[in-house]
Amino acid sequence: MSQSDSILVTGGAGFIGSNYVLSWFAADRGPVVNLDLLTYAGNPANLASLEGDPRYTFVRGDICDAELVGSLLRRHRPRAIVHFAAESHVDRSIASPEAFIRTNVQGTFALLEQARAYWTSLSQADRAAFRFVHVSTDEVYGSLAPGDPAFSETTPYAPNSPYAASKAGSDHLARAYFHTFGLPVLTTNCSNNYGPFQFPEKLIPLMILNALEGKPLPVYGDGMNVRDWLYVKDHCAAIRTVLAEGRPGETYNVGGMSERANIDVVRTICDLVDEMRPTEVDAAPRRMLITYVEDRPGHDRRYAIDARKIKRELGWQPAEVFESGLRKTVRWYLENGDWVARVRTGAYREWIEKNYAARAVL
Ligand code: NAD
Ligand code: DAU
Repeated sequence: MSQSDSILVTGGAGFIGSNYVLSWFAADRGPVVNLDLLTYAGNPANLASLEGDPRYTFVRGDICDAELVGSLLRRHRPRAIVHFAAESHVDRSIASPEAFIRTNVQGTFALLEQARAYWTSLSQADRAAFRFVHVSTDEVYGSLAPGDPAFSETTPYAPNSPYAASKAGSDHLARAYFHTFGLPVLTTNCSNNYGPFQFPEKLIPLMILNALEGKPLPVYGDGMNVRDWLYVKDHCAAIRTVLAEGRPGETYNVGGMSERANIDVVRTICDLVDEMRPTEVDAAPRRMLITYVEDRPGHDRRYAIDARKIKRELGWQPAEVFESGLRKTVRWYLENGDWVARVRTGAYREWIEKNYAARAVL
């Protein structure tokens, strides 16, 4: 039996995965099977607009479950796998690393093994057309000093957090499955994403919601750590491009060319929230809520991505600039109070308590 036109997406109910699935259908592509465990970070409401759409199939399950993954591949016969599923929050990997090793390393291994078995069973033409896109992070490269050249695809790996180490492990497995077995794997290493549907444990949505509610804005350390921000829809476009045109066995760095110090990001968010939801006439501006707190252990100082390869070889570059993307993102959180209320469950509040309550104010 030959392949179908469908793709299997893992982790498609999370932040980037759900943006990917929505943008995939907006671009009028083929059917999607979404395998997601629905951990605290997975939210089917992100894809509520697809309810009843015959092109979309949701399966709640674990990428570590080899039998389930194998049977899904045999049943749906996808032409590609786009692998987003992961534990993704650095602070959680410091508090409880085990789930990161399980999902990011063992889960990716299980997925690669099942993909290899399925791919081996295909006709020669289908084997040649098949793709496995492994979605990874710039954090595998470690930390840059100010003035260091940006991470390129040949920068040596030097992961510093349990999260980054687990993603580095998964990248190495993905690489090995290409080199040893010929499985057509492509890896993307992307910088910090922001945009709609991001779980509010991450810097940008956390700061938007705290600013809106007049709560302290907890900036780690001196606030001078630098991240390279990319609007999530640009990341999704990059992944579609790599899937369609990338060369198997290659890695592609994806970045926003928008390096910003955390304190500048937080100040800009304060100003945008002040503009869109003005405080009472005599109330203090939201910048007054900024509170410097005890640093993240092992906090990487700076990330920066050299995205020239994907531009040169595949023609991708970001469409959004940080200021306009951030404005859209702040507006989205202000306009989607129901979504916000639904994700801030007991588990969310427990995490906020665990991560911030005992953090010393500097
Ligand atoms: P997320 O935490 O928002 O979503 C992860 C999704 O994976 C959730 O829907 C969750 O339910 C699902 N999941 C977790 N464990 C699973 C398991 N064992 N089986 C099946 N599903 C499982 O993450 P995100 O921010 O959307 O990141 C997606 C991918 O992109 C990750 O691999 C991450 O490493 C990578 N990435 C993220 C960023 C970023 O800035 N967020 C940047 C670069 C790369
Ligand atoms: O670089 C890509 C990575 O970006 C992805 O691989 C990760 O999945 C994603 O979570 C993100 O990791 P970061 O650790 O950079 O993102 P986070 O939003 O957690 O933090 C961004 C910066 O803000 C970082 O320097 C830590 C700081 N920070 C974060 C939080 C949550 C604060 O100062 N205060 C906070 O409360």
